[in-house]
Amino acid sequence: MQFFVDTADLEEIREANDMGVLDGVTTNPSLVKEEGNVDFHERVLEICQTVDGDISAEVTATDFDGMMEEAHTLAQIHDNVVVKIPLIKDGIKALRALDEEGIPTNCTLCFSPTQALVAAKAGADYISPFIGRIDDISSDGMGLIEEIAAIYDNYAFETDILAASIRHPTHVKRAALAGADVATMPFETMTKLLEHPLTDRGLERFLADWEDYKDARKAEAGLA
Ligand code: G3P
Repeated sequence: MQFFVDTADLEEIREANDMGVLDGVTTNPSLVKEEGNVDFHERVLEICQTVDGDISAEVTATDFDGMMEEAHTLAQIHDNVVVKIPLIKDGIKALRALDEEGIPTNCTLCFSPTQALVAAKAGADYISPFIGRIDDISSDGMGLIEEIAAIYDNYAFETDILAASIRHPTHVKRAALAGADVATMPFETMTKLLEHPLTDRGLERFLADWEDYKDARKAEAGLA
């Protein structure tokens, strides 16, 4: 499974990248807004220069021509830019056209298996089901990942399933079990994947025992 960090915060992206297990970055207009007064295109370039992997940047036009124009501008920023296209009618048309031009795409705002089926048929490189937002309305986000995985397997679609809107480590675990190709998550969730109280307690014990061992060795050598 590939790990992407879901943020436009350069400092977080650097920290995530330093962990050595980061494969890419996803951004969206809301995440860019959180950054305040930054130039969107400059930020995308900075992210591409920081992380060697696929970097999703989203269009904001909702008509075909507007999406295509924005997609071309974004794709020119860096070879690793993946253009994020919303799952609407003109978006599907844009996915097909961009696929024919060889521009990689991430189809975003997916909330149903039939939406994912259409996006794959249109040639999307990634499909982004928003599992957390589905859970937020008391529905089953993970069920959606499982259904998309089954449909894509049935027809050998090459579109990668990018589990998005991840809220916690259990989402990552279940997305991995369901066969999602990528999990994009906030940096905080990425660090939480590592946490376990028994690891902390175990390490504390090992280090204390190591100190005791060293003291005993010193004492034996008459150095204490
Ligand atoms: O980047 C898309 C997605 O991950 C958004 O997540 O937390 O706003 O539902 P969230």
